[in-house]
Amino acid sequence: MAKLFEAIQFERLSLSNKIVIAPMCQYSATDQGEVTYWHEQQWANYALSGAGLCIIEATAVQPEGRISYADLGLWNDEQRDQIKTLLSKVKQLSPMPFAIQLAHAGRKASTDKPWQGRGQIPENDPHGWQTVAPSSIGFGEHDAPPQALSLEQIQQIKDDFVAAAHRAVEAGFDLIELHAAHGYLLHQFMSPLSNLRDDEYGGSFENRIRLTLEVLQAVKAAVPEGYPVGVRISATDWMSTESWDIESSVGLSEALEQLGAAYIHVSSGGLHRMQQINVGANYQVPFAAQIKQKVAIPVIAVGLITEPDQAEAILQNAEADAIALARAIQYDPRWPWHAAAALGAEIEISPQYLRCQPHGLKQLFKPFQH
Ligand SMILES: Cc1cc2nc3c(=O)[nH]c(=O)nc-3n(C[C@H](O)[C@H](O)[C@H](O)COP(=O)(O)O)c2cc1C
Repeated sequence: MAKLFEAIQFERLSLSNKIVIAPMCQYSATDQGEVTYWHEQQWANYALSGAGLCIIEATAVQPEGRISYADLGLWNDEQRDQIKTLLSKVKQLSPMPFAIQLAHAGRKASTDKPWQGRGQIPENDPHGWQTVAPSSIGFGEHDAPPQALSLEQIQQIKDDFVAAAHRAVEAGFDLIELHAAHGYLLHQFMSPLSNLRDDEYGGSFENRIRLTLEVLQAVKAAVPEGYPVGVRISATDWMSTESWDIESSVGLSEALEQLGAAYIHVSSGGLHRMQQINVGANYQVPFAAQIKQKVAIPVIAVGLITEPDQAEAILQNAEADAIALARAIQYDPRWPWHAAAALGAEIEISPQYLRCQPHGLKQLFKPFQH
């Protein structure tokens, strides 16, 4: 039996296999942060993919926390109600659980869509706003400096994560992932390159990880007992100077486990424009493996995992407990079907599609019968 197709538990939530659809911003929401027909087709497509879990894109807890004006939001009840309606429809297609990634972009907010250049949009443009961050240090060379957050604003951000978590549960999501990776706000607090504060949120390692831990703690307290809340982190800044690194990530992961994180989802980078990433197949897997040695909760590996036997080997080598796919499953939303066929496994499939599975395919060589 392929490990990839064994069940896995994230707290009370059971996944039928270990294939996770990674969160992917679609830059296709209305400028009110609401879902559109694009999300309908995408979520339905993923519901029929055969994956064990789909994590919906980075969804902002405040309007200023959006990467772009076309990001999803969960800062008001209208957004929640529209998501709830859509989720109830796509959940009729398969039993696959859906998660949502809650996020605040901090200094990397107020940008254009990637296919329109991704540059920062100035505050005086109708699609732009003043960004915020732990310290007033911009991300891009020519970015307007972010406003350093006051303690009151930090408290408001925590409250807004909690309010969005309530809405996520009410909307019907089965799991919440906190976005503490890719150089967005929580990561900005953790890296000494973007956090120069001299209060309780800056300086020492304990102070820099404080906000991420407090957000996890507050969100855990807001959701039902056993409801899974996972955390996505960047394992390293990929910088040669003093920065956030794998040792820091191991320490953070241990602290997150203590506070009840359901899993650690191990990505990397995104904090600094001068990062030097060694990109290649499995390039982030060694980080997941290092963290897995130190925590008992599941660890998800992600990053250029594209082939079924590659995914299976990561699990067989005990480098991670589950794998996540982004571009590979965008390219081939039936990746889990093809992986099951390649690894000789059976996959849970909606009954309407049963006859095109490998065992059903034998029927294709017979005359088709209604
Ligand atoms: C179109 C696109 C949008 C993405 N949006 C997000 C996001 O919302 N949140 C996040 O944590 N990562 C995001 N990522 C990163 C992916 O989740 C993933 O970590 C990365 O693409 C590496 O995995 P891959 O090699 O399987 O694509 C995005 C990636 C892509 C390609």
